[in-house]
Amino acid sequence: PFVVTENCIKCKHTDCVEVCPVDCFHEGPNFLVIDPDECIDCTLCEPECPVNAIFPEDDVPAGQEAFVALNAELAKAWPVLTVRKDPPADAGEWDGKPDKLPLLER
Ligand code: SF4
Ligand code: F3S
Repeated sequence: PFVVTENCIKCKHTDCVEVCPVDCFHEGPNFLVIDPDECIDCTLCEPECPVNAIFPEDDVPAGQEAFVALNAELAKAWPVLTVRKDPPADAGEWDGKPDKLPLLER
């Protein structure tokens, strides 16, 4: 499956959700995750993310391996999102900021 990684935190552009043919994106307060049990590896979402936060499970950036389990866990807790919504007003300021994981809201 594909995995949403750290750079989505506080960016949350949501362009990814509308292309997913199996509606497997789930929304939390400041981050989205992909349900690995539903993702069919179609690859459509990966180029849609303006901050390049989506990767195949086998290719997540070094140091971000924890996001594989985090997507699986949070997908079970959060509701599905299928329609794009406006990103946070300050999304641009958070693109590329390191160490955003402690800022993840559940
Ligand atoms: Fe959805 Fe395809 Fe992205 Fe998987 S790879 S989350 S099926 S758009
Ligand atoms: Fe996050 Fe990128 Fe989707 S910022 S909400 S993975 S478009």
